[in-house]
Amino acid sequence: MHADQIRYGVIGTGMMGVEHIENVLHLDGTTVTAVADTNADRRAIGANAARELGSPEVVEFADHREMLDSGLVDAVVIVTPNMTHADVLSDVLATDLHVMVEKPLCTTIDDCQRVVDAAAQGSPHRVVWMGLEYRYMPPTTAMLNEIRSGTVGNVKMVAIREHRLPFLEKVDDWNRFNRNTGGTFVEKCCHFFDLMRLATNAEPVRVYASGAQDVNHLDESYGGEVPDIIDNGFVIVDFDNGARGLLDLCMFAEASKNEQEISVTGDAGKIEALVTESVLRVGRRSDGQHVISERVISDENIRHVGLHNGASFLEHVDFLEAIRSGSPAKVTLVDGMRSVAIGLAAHRSLDLGRPVDMSEVFPNA
Ligand SMILES: NC(=O)c1ccc[n+]([C@@H]2O[C@H](COP(=O)([O-])OP(=O)(O)OC[C@H]3O[C@@H](n4cnc5c(N)ncnc54)[C@H](O)[C@@H]3O)[C@@H](O)[C@H]2O)c1
Repeated sequence: MHADQIRYGVIGTGMMGVEHIENVLHLDGTTVTAVADTNADRRAIGANAARELGSPEVVEFADHREMLDSGLVDAVVIVTPNMTHADVLSDVLATDLHVMVEKPLCTTIDDCQRVVDAAAQGSPHRVVWMGLEYRYMPPTTAMLNEIRSGTVGNVKMVAIREHRLPFLEKVDDWNRFNRNTGGTFVEKCCHFFDLMRLATNAEPVRVYASGAQDVNHLDESYGGEVPDIIDNGFVIVDFDNGARGLLDLCMFAEASKNEQEISVTGDAGKIEALVTESVLRVGRRSDGQHVISERVISDENIRHVGLHNGASFLEHVDFLEAIRSGSPAKVTLVDGMRSVAIGLAAHRSLDLGRPVDMSEVFPNA
Protein backbone atom coordinates (compact mmCIF):
# COMPACT_ATOMS: atom_id res chain seq x y z
CA MET A 1 0.00 0.00 0.00
CA HIS A 2 1.30 3.49 -0.87
CA ALA A 3 1.89 5.86 2.04
CA ASP A 4 -0.52 8.45 0.61
CA GLN A 5 -3.27 5.97 -0.14
CA ILE A 6 -6.66 6.92 1.35
CA ARG A 7 -8.26 3.98 3.22
CA TYR A 8 -12.07 3.87 2.99
CA GLY A 9 -14.59 2.09 5.17
CA VAL A 10 -18.13 1.61 3.88
CA ILE A 11 -21.00 1.32 6.38
CA GLY A 12 -23.97 -0.46 4.82
CA THR A 13 -23.11 -2.70 1.87
CA GLY A 14 -26.50 -3.13 0.26
CA MET A 15 -27.17 -2.05 -3.31
CA MET A 16 -25.80 1.46 -2.98
CA GLY A 17 -22.94 0.49 -0.64
CA VAL A 18 -21.54 -1.84 -3.31
CA GLU A 19 -21.94 0.99 -5.82
CA HIS A 20 -19.79 3.19 -3.57
CA ILE A 21 -17.14 0.47 -3.18
CA GLU A 22 -16.93 0.09 -6.97
CA ASN A 23 -16.63 3.84 -7.47
CA VAL A 24 -14.02 4.37 -4.75
CA LEU A 25 -11.91 1.60 -6.24
CA HIS A 26 -11.93 3.22 -9.68
CA LEU A 27 -10.10 6.24 -8.22
CA ASP A 28 -6.32 6.52 -8.02
CA GLY A 29 -4.66 6.00 -4.64
CA THR A 30 -7.63 4.53 -2.80
CA THR A 31 -8.35 1.26 -1.07
CA VAL A 32 -11.32 -0.17 0.84
CA THR A 33 -9.95 -1.56 4.09
CA ALA A 34 -13.20 -2.21 5.94
CA VAL A 35 -16.92 -2.78 5.49
CA ALA A 36 -19.57 -2.76 8.21
CA ASP A 37 -23.06 -4.18 7.86
CA THR A 38 -25.43 -5.68 10.40
CA ASN A 39 -26.42 -8.30 7.81
CA ALA A 40 -23.74 -11.01 7.42
CA ASP A 41 -24.68 -11.87 3.82
CA ARG A 42 -24.55 -8.26 2.67
CA ARG A 43 -21.28 -7.74 4.56
CA ALA A 44 -19.71 -10.65 2.68
CA ILE A 45 -21.01 -9.31 -0.65
CA GLY A 46 -19.47 -5.91 0.12
CA ALA A 47 -16.14 -7.43 1.13
CA ASN A 48 -16.05 -9.59 -2.00
CA ALA A 49 -16.77 -6.57 -4.20
CA ALA A 50 -13.78 -4.81 -2.62
CA ARG A 51 -11.51 -7.86 -3.01
CA GLU A 52 -12.45 -8.32 -6.66
CA LEU A 53 -11.48 -4.71 -7.35
CA GLY A 54 -8.05 -4.99 -5.73
CA SER A 55 -8.56 -4.47 -1.98
CA PRO A 56 -7.53 -7.90 -0.62
CA GLU A 57 -7.09 -6.78 3.00
CA VAL A 58 -10.69 -5.70 3.61
CA VAL A 59 -11.93 -6.46 7.16
CA GLU A 60 -15.61 -7.13 7.92
CA PHE A 61 -17.39 -5.62 10.94
CA ALA A 62 -20.91 -6.33 12.18
CA ASP A 63 -20.90 -3.07 14.18
CA HIS A 64 -19.77 0.18 12.56
CA ARG A 65 -18.43 1.47 15.91
CA GLU A 66 -15.80 -1.29 15.91
CA MET A 67 -14.78 -0.17 12.44
CA LEU A 68 -14.46 3.42 13.63
CA ASP A 69 -12.24 2.30 16.55
CA SER A 70 -10.12 -0.05 14.43
CA GLY A 71 -7.65 2.50 13.07
CA LEU A 72 -8.11 0.89 9.67
CA VAL A 73 -9.86 3.74 7.87
CA ASP A 74 -9.24 7.40 6.96
CA ALA A 75 -12.63 8.05 5.35
CA VAL A 76 -16.07 6.56 5.81
CA VAL A 77 -19.07 6.34 3.47
CA ILE A 78 -22.46 5.90 5.20
CA VAL A 79 -24.88 3.94 3.03
CA THR A 80 -27.32 2.54 5.57
CA PRO A 81 -31.13 3.00 5.48
CA ASN A 82 -32.38 6.57 5.88
CA MET A 83 -33.70 6.22 9.45
CA THR A 84 -30.26 5.07 10.66
CA HIS A 85 -28.26 7.99 9.21
CA ALA A 86 -28.65 10.25 12.27
CA ASP A 87 -27.19 7.78 14.76
CA VAL A 88 -24.53 6.29 12.48
CA LEU A 89 -23.37 9.74 11.33
CA SER A 90 -23.31 11.00 14.94
CA ASP A 91 -20.94 8.15 15.80
CA VAL A 92 -18.70 9.03 12.83
CA LEU A 93 -18.75 12.74 13.64
CA ALA A 94 -17.45 11.94 17.13
CA THR A 95 -14.21 10.90 15.37
CA ASP A 96 -11.98 12.96 13.06
CA LEU A 97 -12.55 10.68 10.08
CA HIS A 98 -13.60 12.14 6.74
CA VAL A 99 -17.16 11.16 5.89
CA MET A 100 -19.65 11.10 3.03
CA VAL A 101 -23.27 10.38 3.99
CA GLU A 102 -25.84 9.25 1.46
CA LYS A 103 -29.03 11.23 0.92
CA PRO A 104 -31.40 11.95 2.55
CA LEU A 105 -29.30 13.43 5.36
CA CYS A 106 -31.89 12.29 7.95
CA THR A 107 -35.64 11.76 8.05
CA THR A 108 -36.53 14.61 10.46
CA ILE A 109 -35.38 18.22 10.84
CA ASP A 110 -34.42 17.61 14.48
CA ASP A 111 -32.06 14.82 13.44
CA CYS A 112 -30.66 16.94 10.57
CA GLN A 113 -29.98 19.80 12.98
CA ARG A 114 -28.34 17.43 15.46
CA VAL A 115 -25.78 16.18 12.90
CA VAL A 116 -25.24 19.66 11.42
CA ASP A 117 -24.37 20.90 14.93
CA ALA A 118 -22.12 17.90 15.58
CA ALA A 119 -20.24 18.48 12.30
CA ALA A 120 -19.60 22.10 13.28
CA GLN A 121 -17.94 20.97 16.54
CA GLY A 122 -15.36 18.71 14.92
CA SER A 123 -11.90 19.11 13.43
CA PRO A 124 -11.84 21.75 10.67
CA HIS A 125 -9.47 19.46 8.75
CA ARG A 126 -11.91 16.63 8.24
CA VAL A 127 -14.23 16.65 5.22
CA VAL A 128 -17.95 16.12 5.90
CA TRP A 129 -19.64 15.56 2.54
CA MET A 130 -23.35 15.29 1.71
CA GLY A 131 -24.07 12.70 -0.96
CA LEU A 132 -26.40 14.48 -3.39
CA GLU A 133 -25.03 13.04 -6.56
CA TYR A 134 -27.71 14.23 -8.99
CA ARG A 135 -25.68 17.44 -9.08
CA TYR A 136 -23.05 15.31 -10.77
CA MET A 137 -25.18 13.80 -13.57
CA PRO A 138 -23.29 15.09 -16.64
CA PRO A 139 -26.25 16.81 -18.40
CA THR A 140 -27.40 18.30 -15.08
CA THR A 141 -23.93 19.65 -14.33
CA ALA A 142 -23.75 21.11 -17.84
CA MET A 143 -27.18 22.72 -17.33
CA LEU A 144 -26.17 24.27 -14.00
CA ASN A 145 -22.98 25.63 -15.59
CA GLU A 146 -25.00 27.24 -18.41
CA ILE A 147 -27.38 28.81 -15.87
CA ARG A 148 -24.45 30.20 -13.87
CA SER A 149 -22.91 31.68 -16.99
CA GLY A 150 -26.13 33.58 -17.70
CA THR A 151 -27.44 31.65 -20.71
CA VAL A 152 -31.11 31.87 -19.68
CA GLY A 153 -30.88 35.18 -17.81
CA ASN A 154 -32.70 35.45 -14.49
CA VAL A 155 -34.19 32.05 -13.67
CA LYS A 156 -37.95 32.20 -13.14
CA MET A 157 -39.17 28.60 -13.46
CA VAL A 158 -37.60 25.19 -12.78
CA ALA A 159 -39.67 22.16 -13.78
CA ILE A 160 -38.29 18.74 -12.93
CA ARG A 161 -40.06 15.62 -14.14
CA GLU A 162 -38.99 12.27 -12.76
CA HIS A 163 -40.90 9.45 -14.41
CA ARG A 164 -39.41 6.13 -13.42
CA LEU A 165 -39.83 2.60 -12.17
CA PRO A 166 -41.24 1.78 -8.70
CA PHE A 167 -38.97 1.66 -5.65
CA LEU A 168 -36.76 -1.44 -5.72
CA GLU A 169 -36.79 -4.10 -3.01
CA LYS A 170 -34.39 -3.35 -0.17
CA VAL A 171 -32.75 -5.35 2.61
CA ASP A 172 -35.44 -6.02 5.27
CA ASP A 173 -37.89 -3.93 3.16
CA TRP A 174 -37.06 -0.73 5.06
CA ASN A 175 -38.08 1.48 2.12
CA ARG A 176 -41.76 0.43 2.18
CA PHE A 177 -42.70 2.71 5.09
CA ASN A 178 -42.59 6.48 5.56
CA ARG A 179 -41.34 6.12 9.13
CA ASN A 180 -38.10 4.65 7.71
CA THR A 181 -37.64 6.71 4.56
CA GLY A 182 -38.97 10.12 5.65
CA GLY A 183 -41.58 9.81 2.88
CA THR A 184 -41.16 9.67 -0.90
CA PHE A 185 -40.72 13.46 -1.23
CA VAL A 186 -37.79 13.19 1.21
CA GLU A 187 -36.32 9.82 0.22
CA LYS A 188 -36.36 10.26 -3.54
CA CYS A 189 -37.03 13.90 -4.16
CA CYS A 190 -34.43 15.57 -1.91
CA HIS A 191 -32.18 15.28 -5.01
CA PHE A 192 -34.59 17.41 -7.03
CA PHE A 193 -35.21 20.01 -4.33
CA ASP A 194 -31.44 20.34 -4.09
CA LEU A 195 -31.29 20.96 -7.85
CA MET A 196 -34.09 23.55 -7.60
CA ARG A 197 -32.08 25.45 -4.96
CA LEU A 198 -29.03 25.40 -7.22
CA ALA A 199 -30.91 26.39 -10.38
CA THR A 200 -32.78 29.29 -8.72
CA ASN A 201 -29.86 30.27 -6.47
CA ALA A 202 -32.51 30.92 -3.84
CA GLU A 203 -34.13 29.39 -0.76
CA PRO A 204 -37.72 28.11 -0.56
CA VAL A 205 -40.44 30.00 1.29
CA ARG A 206 -43.63 28.01 0.56
CA VAL A 207 -44.53 24.51 -0.66
CA TYR A 208 -47.80 23.12 -2.08
CA ALA A 209 -48.20 19.41 -2.83
CA SER A 210 -50.69 16.94 -4.22
CA GLY A 211 -49.95 13.23 -4.35
CA ALA A 212 -51.03 9.71 -3.42
CA GLN A 213 -50.17 6.04 -3.42
CA ASP A 214 -52.32 4.98 -6.34
CA VAL A 215 -50.62 2.00 -7.99
CA ASN A 216 -47.46 0.62 -6.37
CA HIS A 217 -47.00 -1.82 -3.47
CA LEU A 218 -50.72 -1.96 -2.65
CA ASP A 219 -50.68 -5.77 -2.92
CA GLU A 220 -47.66 -6.13 -0.61
CA SER A 221 -47.76 -6.84 3.11
CA TYR A 222 -44.96 -6.88 5.70
CA GLY A 223 -45.92 -8.38 9.04
CA GLY A 224 -49.53 -7.65 8.10
CA GLU A 225 -48.80 -4.01 7.22
CA VAL A 226 -49.33 -2.59 3.72
CA PRO A 227 -46.72 -0.04 2.52
CA ASP A 228 -47.73 3.62 2.92
CA ILE A 229 -45.34 5.32 0.46
CA ILE A 230 -46.79 7.63 -2.20
CA ASP A 231 -45.95 6.85 -5.82
CA ASN A 232 -46.98 10.02 -7.67
CA GLY A 233 -47.43 13.69 -7.03
CA PHE A 234 -46.81 17.29 -7.95
CA VAL A 235 -44.94 19.71 -5.69
CA ILE A 236 -44.76 23.48 -6.26
CA VAL A 237 -42.05 25.43 -4.45
CA ASP A 238 -42.00 29.24 -4.20
CA PHE A 239 -38.48 30.67 -3.75
CA ASP A 240 -37.46 33.83 -1.93
CA ASN A 241 -36.35 35.56 -5.16
CA GLY A 242 -39.74 35.03 -6.83
CA ALA A 243 -38.68 31.98 -8.85
CA ARG A 244 -40.83 28.86 -8.68
CA GLY A 245 -40.17 25.16 -8.96
CA LEU A 246 -42.38 22.26 -10.00
CA LEU A 247 -41.67 18.61 -9.33
CA ASP A 248 -43.67 16.07 -11.36
CA LEU A 249 -43.03 12.62 -9.89
CA CYS A 250 -44.44 9.38 -11.20
CA MET A 251 -43.08 6.03 -10.06
CA PHE A 252 -45.10 3.79 -12.36
CA ALA A 253 -43.77 5.37 -15.54
CA GLU A 254 -40.80 3.21 -16.49
CA ALA A 255 -42.20 3.25 -20.04
CA SER A 256 -40.57 6.64 -20.57
CA LYS A 257 -37.63 7.75 -22.68
CA ASN A 258 -35.98 9.78 -19.92
CA GLU A 259 -35.99 9.16 -16.18
CA GLN A 260 -35.46 12.86 -15.55
CA GLU A 261 -36.36 15.80 -17.76
CA ILE A 262 -35.42 19.18 -16.32
CA SER A 263 -36.48 22.48 -17.82
CA VAL A 264 -35.20 25.84 -16.54
CA THR A 265 -36.61 29.04 -18.00
CA GLY A 266 -35.34 32.56 -17.41
CA ASP A 267 -36.15 35.95 -18.86
CA ALA A 268 -33.56 35.39 -21.63
CA GLY A 269 -34.13 31.77 -22.59
CA LYS A 270 -34.73 28.17 -21.71
CA ILE A 271 -32.52 25.17 -21.06
CA GLU A 272 -33.49 21.51 -20.85
CA ALA A 273 -31.51 18.55 -19.51
CA LEU A 274 -32.67 15.09 -20.57
CA VAL A 275 -30.84 12.78 -18.25
CA THR A 276 -31.22 9.29 -19.72
CA GLU A 277 -30.49 10.52 -23.24
CA SER A 278 -27.75 12.77 -21.78
CA VAL A 279 -28.87 15.65 -23.96
CA LEU A 280 -28.81 19.39 -23.30
CA ARG A 281 -31.09 21.75 -25.27
CA VAL A 282 -30.57 25.50 -25.15
CA GLY A 283 -32.71 28.24 -26.65
CA ARG A 284 -32.25 32.01 -26.30
CA ARG A 285 -35.20 34.31 -26.91
CA SER A 286 -32.93 36.69 -28.82
CA ASP A 287 -32.36 33.96 -31.43
CA GLY A 288 -36.09 33.67 -32.16
CA GLN A 289 -38.89 31.14 -31.80
CA HIS A 290 -38.01 27.41 -32.06
CA VAL A 291 -34.29 28.10 -32.50
CA ILE A 292 -32.64 25.48 -30.29
CA SER A 293 -29.12 24.11 -30.03
CA GLU A 294 -28.96 20.51 -28.89
CA ARG A 295 -25.89 18.57 -27.81
CA VAL A 296 -25.07 15.20 -26.27
CA ILE A 297 -23.19 15.57 -23.01
CA SER A 298 -20.43 13.17 -22.01
CA ASP A 299 -17.63 13.38 -19.47
CA GLU A 300 -14.38 11.63 -20.31
CA ASN A 301 -13.34 11.73 -16.64
CA ILE A 302 -15.91 9.05 -15.79
CA ARG A 303 -14.12 5.74 -15.21
CA HIS A 304 -17.12 3.90 -13.81
CA VAL A 305 -20.65 4.54 -15.07
CA GLY A 306 -22.33 2.39 -12.41
CA LEU A 307 -26.01 2.82 -11.62
CA HIS A 308 -26.13 6.62 -11.87
CA ASN A 309 -24.62 7.64 -15.21
CA GLY A 310 -21.17 8.20 -13.70
CA ALA A 311 -22.46 10.71 -11.14
CA SER A 312 -21.32 8.63 -8.15
CA PHE A 313 -17.81 8.42 -9.61
CA LEU A 314 -17.59 12.18 -10.21
CA GLU A 315 -18.90 12.86 -6.70
CA HIS A 316 -16.14 10.64 -5.29
CA VAL A 317 -13.50 12.44 -7.38
CA ASP A 318 -14.46 15.70 -5.64
CA PHE A 319 -14.70 14.09 -2.18
CA LEU A 320 -11.20 12.62 -2.59
CA GLU A 321 -9.84 15.91 -3.90
CA ALA A 322 -11.24 17.70 -0.82
CA ILE A 323 -9.63 15.10 1.46
CA ARG A 324 -6.25 15.41 -0.28
CA SER A 325 -6.23 19.20 -0.58
CA GLY A 326 -7.84 19.98 2.79
CA SER A 327 -10.48 22.08 1.06
CA PRO A 328 -14.06 22.28 2.39
CA ALA A 329 -16.85 20.04 1.15
CA LYS A 330 -18.60 21.34 -1.98
CA VAL A 331 -21.84 19.71 -0.84
CA THR A 332 -22.54 20.23 2.85
CA LEU A 333 -24.80 18.80 5.53
CA VAL A 334 -26.68 22.12 5.45
CA ASP A 335 -27.43 21.45 1.76
CA GLY A 336 -28.68 18.05 2.85
CA MET A 337 -30.85 19.52 5.60
CA ARG A 338 -32.39 22.12 3.29
CA SER A 339 -33.27 19.51 0.65
CA VAL A 340 -34.91 17.32 3.32
CA ALA A 341 -36.83 20.31 4.71
CA ILE A 342 -38.56 20.94 1.35
CA GLY A 343 -39.58 17.27 1.18
CA LEU A 344 -40.95 17.39 4.71
CA ALA A 345 -42.90 20.56 3.87
CA ALA A 346 -44.36 18.78 0.81
CA HIS A 347 -45.53 15.89 3.00
CA ARG A 348 -47.03 18.32 5.51
CA SER A 349 -48.87 20.04 2.66
CA LEU A 350 -50.25 16.65 1.55
CA ASP A 351 -51.34 15.80 5.07
CA LEU A 352 -52.99 19.16 5.75
CA GLY A 353 -54.35 19.89 2.27
CA ARG A 354 -52.95 23.42 2.20
CA PRO A 355 -49.79 25.37 1.31
CA VAL A 356 -47.05 25.13 3.94
CA ASP A 357 -44.62 27.92 4.81
CA MET A 358 -41.07 26.65 5.20
CA SER A 359 -40.94 28.22 8.65
CA GLU A 360 -43.48 25.60 9.80
CA VAL A 361 -41.02 22.75 9.24
CA PHE A 362 -37.70 24.55 9.38
CA PRO A 363 -37.65 27.42 11.88
CA ASN A 364 -34.05 28.31 10.94
CA ALA A 365 -34.79 28.54 7.20
N1 LIG B 1 -27.69 8.59 -4.30
C1 LIG B 1 -28.63 7.82 -4.77
O1 LIG B 1 -29.13 8.05 -5.84
C2 LIG B 1 -29.06 6.64 -3.95
C3 LIG B 1 -29.55 5.49 -4.58
C4 LIG B 1 -29.94 4.42 -3.79
C5 LIG B 1 -29.86 4.50 -2.42
N2 LIG B 1 -29.41 5.63 -1.82
C6 LIG B 1 -29.34 5.75 -0.36
O2 LIG B 1 -28.38 4.81 0.13
C7 LIG B 1 -28.81 4.28 1.37
C8 LIG B 1 -28.85 2.77 1.30
O3 LIG B 1 -29.77 2.38 0.30
P1 LIG B 1 -29.68 0.96 -0.43
O4 LIG B 1 -30.47 1.10 -1.66
O5 LIG B 1 -28.25 0.54 -0.56
O6 LIG B 1 -30.42 0.03 0.63
P2 LIG B 1 -30.15 -1.51 0.91
O7 LIG B 1 -31.29 -2.01 1.71
O8 LIG B 1 -29.83 -2.22 -0.37
O9 LIG B 1 -28.82 -1.52 1.81
C9 LIG B 1 -28.77 -1.02 3.12
C10 LIG B 1 -27.74 -1.84 3.89
O10 LIG B 1 -27.52 -1.26 5.17
C11 LIG B 1 -27.42 -2.33 6.13
N3 LIG B 1 -27.70 -1.78 7.46
C12 LIG B 1 -28.89 -1.48 8.03
N4 LIG B 1 -28.70 -0.93 9.25
C13 LIG B 1 -27.35 -0.89 9.44
C14 LIG B 1 -26.53 -0.41 10.50
N5 LIG B 1 -27.06 0.15 11.58
N6 LIG B 1 -25.20 -0.55 10.37
C15 LIG B 1 -24.65 -1.11 9.27
N7 LIG B 1 -25.38 -1.57 8.23
C16 LIG B 1 -26.71 -1.45 8.32
C17 LIG B 1 -28.42 -3.35 5.64
O11 LIG B 1 -28.16 -4.64 6.20
C18 LIG B 1 -28.21 -3.30 4.13
O12 LIG B 1 -27.20 -4.18 3.71
C19 LIG B 1 -30.17 4.92 1.68
O13 LIG B 1 -29.99 6.05 2.50
C20 LIG B 1 -30.65 5.37 0.31
O14 LIG B 1 -31.53 6.47 0.36
C21 LIG B 1 -28.99 6.70 -2.57
